[in-house]
Amino acid sequence: MGLKILATGRALPSRLVTNDDLAQVMETSDEWIASRTGIRQRYFCGEGEGNTALAVSACRRAIARAGIDPAEIGLCLAATFTPDHASPSLACEVHGALGLPESTPAFDINAACTGFLAALETARCLLAGGNLRGKYALVFGSEVISRVLDPADRSTAVLFGDGTGAAVVTLSKQHPFVSLLGARGDAEILRAGGSSQADRYVRMEGKAVFRFATQIVPACIDQLLERAGCGLDEVDWVVCHQANGRIIDHVVRKLGAPEEKFYKNIHRYANTSAASIPIALDEMCENGLIRTGQRVLCVGFGAGLTWGGALLTF
Ligand code: UT7
Repeated sequence: MGLKILATGRALPSRLVTNDDLAQVMETSDEWIASRTGIRQRYFCGEGEGNTALAVSACRRAIARAGIDPAEIGLCLAATFTPDHASPSLACEVHGALGLPESTPAFDINAACTGFLAALETARCLLAGGNLRGKYALVFGSEVISRVLDPADRSTAVLFGDGTGAAVVTLSKQHPFVSLLGARGDAEILRAGGSSQADRYVRMEGKAVFRFATQIVPACIDQLLERAGCGLDEVDWVVCHQANGRIIDHVVRKLGAPEEKFYKNIHRYANTSAASIPIALDEMCENGLIRTGQRVLCVGFGAGLTWGGALLTF
């Protein structure tokens, strides 16, 4: 059974932080950040802003655009590694704020930057399982990574941003959905949010993550296309997790693919982890880039290590 995205929504916090702003507080420069990553700015949560408020705002937008009654939402899934609380989950906080039905389960999925794609496939399986009360699922990737950035570590502090991307989805035979998810246990090269103070911040071996990404993303795209029985020429857009523009350029070269098929918005938001793919989808729908009937291939990778892809039909 396929999956249809009825509508999307996004929310960004109020504090816009440019590369030049960061250069005022740490040894870095717009030139270094932009040339190594493509990032020009990011949004950080300020005083009084948090993950729940961001997620609620993006979800409200998606629900309003879908034109559905929230009482018909049968599942509420958050993809995040930066919830406001370890417990209750972000999904439960959003469930409460939106007043979703008591029969609607809510829980978080943590697959780091692959989280939104893992949540979409989980939603599809649960909707298809037939035990939910409502026919729609609310699925969102939402992160406040600024809380786990070490201002003393310029090699990570410049790379990430906060934000939420949300989608309302439902089962549909007319909207084929092919998914691929995997993991390669390696807890050392990228981690965050440890319980001790010393282990709290994002720590990353940038070059090792770069090597992983440029190997796994083309492999994942190839496997997904094989599973779907189609070629890249039959796909209208590729939306890679926005971690580094140079990773996307590598993937384009490795696949010999047309560059214009690969969407990039990392210059605006930096790496928003689980939120990056749904934010991109929302922006593309809003700007009329994705049209009805088009095929969009999404691919993610992140801490864990996790990786995954989904071929969606709009
Ligand atoms: O969601 C998944 C998350 N992560 C990723 O996808 C990240 C993948 N990795 C990368 O994108 C790249 O490895 C980075 C952009 C993180 C780093 O680029 P790099 O070309 O691998 O740089 P590097 O770590 O080898 O550092 C090169 C130099 C070093 O100086 P020296 O030792 O050559 O003198 C760093 O200290 O750049 C220095 N450096 C900086 N300089 C200015 C590191 N961070 C900065 C900075 N500003 N922010």
